[in-house]
Amino acid sequence: QSKENQDVLKAYEWLTKLYHHLLRHTKEGKEGYHYLKERGFTDDIIDTFQLGFSPNSKEFTVQFLEKKGYHRQTMVKAGLLSANEENQVTDRFRGRVIFPIRNHLGKTVGFGGRSIGNQEPKYLNSPESELFQKGKLLYNFDLARTSIRKEEEAVLFEGYIDVISAYKAGVINGIATLGTSMTESQAKLLRRYVETVVICYDADKAGFQASFKAAKLLKNVGCKVKVSSMPIGLDPDEYIKTYGADRFKTEVIEASDTYMSFMMKYIKKDYNLNLEGDRIQYVENVVDEISLIERPIEREHYLKELANEFELSIDTLSQEIQSRRQKIG
Ligand code: UTP
Ligand code: MN
Ligand code: MN
Ligand code: MN
Ligand code: MN
Repeated sequence: QSKENQDVLKAYEWLTKLYHHLLRHTKEGKEGYHYLKERGFTDDIIDTFQLGFSPNSKEFTVQFLEKKGYHRQTMVKAGLLSANEENQVTDRFRGRVIFPIRNHLGKTVGFGGRSIGNQEPKYLNSPESELFQKGKLLYNFDLARTSIRKEEEAVLFEGYIDVISAYKAGVINGIATLGTSMTESQAKLLRRYVETVVICYDADKAGFQASFKAAKLLKNVGCKVKVSSMPIGLDPDEYIKTYGADRFKTEVIEASDTYMSFMMKYIKKDYNLNLEGDRIQYVENVVDEISLIERPIEREHYLKELANEFELSIDTLSQEIQSRRQKIG
């Protein structure tokens, strides 16, 4: 680790402790504390995830870091401070609730900051750096790893709020990509620890699309994929607040769709199955998906389902699938 990276890690460690302390025990952190309480986070949860608050002051963090002897330049590069044209520096996360983002070793390598009023952007994350690469990290992986192993299942969320809400509801094998769609490197990392992944993204258009991408990636690295669904418009945090922990576990997590039934739903949304042309297109697309399935039993299962639904002969579909599989090789 370079001297600069060591300094950055140390600074993140100091600030995680400081911001957490401010939130829990001081009037400078009260706003943040109230915000989290309003959202239903308990002291226990706040402590477990080391949530904090960065005071709404331009000087506070600057002075703290200065006193500790950190170089301004390094802190700007690390995304803790931001500099204007006149080279004045201010706290980049000021006035935000802080979510420390730890790497797989449990070291904080970045912050997520959520505004507590109407300031935009709603979420601000640390900038990309050697230490903080969003596409390679999974939020909460260090804490969730043990239960992921034990349950032989991981639950994938969009972000920290959903992970934390689910944790509070008793789903402690939750991890998240940080507001972006999953990357191959995240999928591979996950596959090293677990086979089954339940995708639990927001029930909105963006979430649906991101679920599709994540499902493909995870399937490609050999995962058994499931995809949950919730009433349109809700995200996991809102679902839990509305319907409670028990229903979240049984009606969302346990009731999640298999990879193929999700794919069929996903493909279906582009077609009007009352139209003959659309029906044919749809079947072609589903046949493409079925051809990609490795297990013969699974292939046959969906083939029969499709044949039944559209009154097609199993032989015809079978041939279609065989010829596609030969092309793939
Ligand atoms: P959403 O955009 O779904 O947040 O992003 P939300 O549910 O509306 O936010 P709340 O509930 O009002 O607070 C989901 C998650 O993606 C991450 C955050 O972790 C967020 O919780 N995210 C989102 C980022 O990291 N960066 C972004 O720019 C956006
Ligand atoms: Mn949103
Ligand atoms: Mn979302
Ligand atoms: Mn959301
Ligand atoms: Mn939300």
